[in-house]
Amino acid sequence: MSGSASPVPMALQAEDLHVSFGNARRGSLIRAVDGVSFSVRKGEIFGVIGESGSGKSTLGRCLVGLLTPSGGGVRHGGIDPFRFSRRELNRHRRKYQIVSQDPNAAFDPRMTILQSVCEPLNIAGEGTRAERREKAFEMLDRVALSPEMANRYPHEISGGQKQRANIARALMLDPNVIVCDEVVAALDVSIQADMLNLFARLQEQFGLTYVFISHDLRVVSHISDCVAVMYFGKIVEVGPAHAVMEAPLHPYTEALRSAEPEITPAGADARSRIILQGEIPSAVSPPGGCRFHTRCPRVRDVCRIQEPQQRELLPGRHVACHFAEEMLVEQERKGLSAGRNRVQDMASATQALT
Ligand SMILES: Nc1ncnc2c1ncn2[C@@H]1O[C@H](COP(=O)(O)OP(=O)(O)O)[C@@H](O)[C@H]1O
Ligand code: SF4
Ligand SMILES: [Mg+2]
Repeated sequence: MSGSASPVPMALQAEDLHVSFGNARRGSLIRAVDGVSFSVRKGEIFGVIGESGSGKSTLGRCLVGLLTPSGGGVRHGGIDPFRFSRRELNRHRRKYQIVSQDPNAAFDPRMTILQSVCEPLNIAGEGTRAERREKAFEMLDRVALSPEMANRYPHEISGGQKQRANIARALMLDPNVIVCDEVVAALDVSIQADMLNLFARLQEQFGLTYVFISHDLRVVSHISDCVAVMYFGKIVEVGPAHAVMEAPLHPYTEALRSAEPEITPAGADARSRIILQGEIPSAVSPPGGCRFHTRCPRVRDVCRIQEPQQRELLPGRHVACHFAEEMLVEQERKGLSAGRNRVQDMASATQALT
């Protein structure tokens, strides 16, 4: 589809990706990722937003090869990494790193920061001890940690410093893609912006591609070129970040968006806040029809019976809602730009679902 027609190479693709946990016969099957497709261009920041439990971390872990798909697949630069032998996969996986929310989990309390940052190269058996140390000091510098930090232990530095060291550690393997999973969620709000700026700077300096996962719409919209909105294992909307934020075309995105009116000041006054009603469904037995129907402020009869299919409403804007066209008309009536006829939207329509 349009994603693969782009002249810019794809760093990462998910193709009808499924990841399940539990056992169907025992009635405990959880379809954490349930038929997700998208493409991420080289050098882009692809945001994934959704409430807790929507399958974001499962998706992220599968994208870097830490979880095996139960259906569909992942492509790294056009290659299926799950076809590799375990040895090849380990070698290849270094190019696809994941940085997670809890930096404590990434550090052995008995090792200094320098030892931990060197560890990925020790495991890979790369370089001499002096070369590894030299590279570690360079990476610590890139994440704005002073050389004195190198000899400290994890408990002697702050959460923000630990997350910086965590990034330095991921950079040691010269990755192409980093999945950033809730990387600022555990940090004090006052340092979140600094950390996001650091991520943005590193992305430029190293030519990285990010999948930027967060439950926080402000975080994702701040940094991403393109965003995908997840609800219960499915992507309900995907498109250029500014268009999705300014004029959401799915009721779930609209609800998330209306809870954060400060994201896009223009037009914010006119937007009344939507409070999601209804219970969050069980992960083991999600509702039939549209999964969002138990909470959707726009629900109609058809939503309870028929699952809406994903379709491209505007270039690069894919939505799975029976009434997305109506929302598009409404948004345009309000004078909000959903991305129709905009050249830059066409250009950033790379995350088109495949
Ligand atoms: N290892 C696991 N075993 C069983 N269920 C899991 C496992 N990891 C995640 N899940 C379930 O999969 C669903 C999605 O979880 P997760 O990917 O962590 O969502 P998010 O990161 O969006 O909060 C949840 O219902 C969660 O309980
Ligand atoms: S298909 Fe129906 S229930 Fe689902 S998001 Fe659209 S309006 Fe809401
Ligand atoms: Mg998570």
